[in-house]
Amino acid sequence: MEMQRKAFVPGRLWPDHRGQHISAHGGGILKHEGKYYWYGEDNSQGYLNHVGVSCYSSKDLYNWTYEGTALKQENLPEELQGRHDGRIERPKVIYNSKTRKFVMWMHAERSGYAFSSAGVAVSDNPTGPFEFLFVDRPVAFEPDEGFDAHTGEWELGNSFRDMHLFVDDEDANGDGVNDAYVMYASEANWTLYIVRLNDEYTWVDLPAGTTRIRPQCKAEHLGSVWSRQLIRRMREAPTPFKYRGNYYLITSACTGWNPNQAEYAISDHPLGDYLVKGDPCIDDTERTTFDSQSTFVLPIDADKGRFIYIGDRWIPDELGKSTHVWLPLTIDQDGSVSIRWHDQWSLEDAYS
Ligand code: GAL
Repeated sequence: MEMQRKAFVPGRLWPDHRGQHISAHGGGILKHEGKYYWYGEDNSQGYLNHVGVSCYSSKDLYNWTYEGTALKQENLPEELQGRHDGRIERPKVIYNSKTRKFVMWMHAERSGYAFSSAGVAVSDNPTGPFEFLFVDRPVAFEPDEGFDAHTGEWELGNSFRDMHLFVDDEDANGDGVNDAYVMYASEANWTLYIVRLNDEYTWVDLPAGTTRIRPQCKAEHLGSVWSRQLIRRMREAPTPFKYRGNYYLITSACTGWNPNQAEYAISDHPLGDYLVKGDPCIDDTERTTFDSQSTFVLPIDADKGRFIYIGDRWIPDELGKSTHVWLPLTIDQDGSVSIRWHDQWSLEDAYS
């Protein structure tokens, strides 16, 4: 039996209960009935031999049990099979208290990064198997700045790449379930879109009979159901969290697998407007987010401003060996965010 881990060791290989490095990249964590579930890209067989979305479970966040493939590559639709080299990136799972279903959203992609669509899947169990529902692009709206010919935005709707989900602790629209949002890099990564989800969390919140936000509903919906944020700033890896009624968003710049400087922004409404505050990393001499790209922020004691920053340290040639950078993220009295490097740390010693 593996020795029990009692600390996080950022940037090192992290064995699961089988002794294999955790491959849950671009991932996210769901806490459900006292247990944590970690979902992410299973890159263990390499970039091209995509396995699907992996799931691991843990009670203490240090020791993880491999639960198998929650969504298998072979269960993806035709458009993502065979020669298309289909791949799922940055999957996230949330729980819908009304339908009691686990809902997964993902960036569904093909080689060339032009497919750029949202995928949605559901399951009755946290560990899956997830049933794939469809791929689509939520917003078919032509921004004034133009559109991307590479991804066919004019015909197919605005592109959908690095993504995240956020479930609020409020039900502002009164549909009996907490409001949830999808946020994603759109307009060929130039601008971030945030769109409210429907009461089942399976698609965006639109009037019956409509499947996408279209130009004609722009005026009606822009600002109430969706918004364009960090306009033309070309930010990726959106990573949201909430602290004392404010909505925080960490993003990366857009440099592929290479790390770059993170930035965070704050808003008093989930749809924005987000005001850019700067780099949350302290003493990060290289200004590369401690050689990582954000993927999740996990609340530990949100009201006290105690969170865990989770990022990927990508290794492009051996994507499955990419490591995980977990670091304490704290929020000061004035609302400012700090992420500090630790070679090794535990929850007990981090926040004092
Ligand atoms: C990054 C993105 C990753 C992946 C990669 C591919 O910018 O954040 O999720 O898509 O590009 O080059």
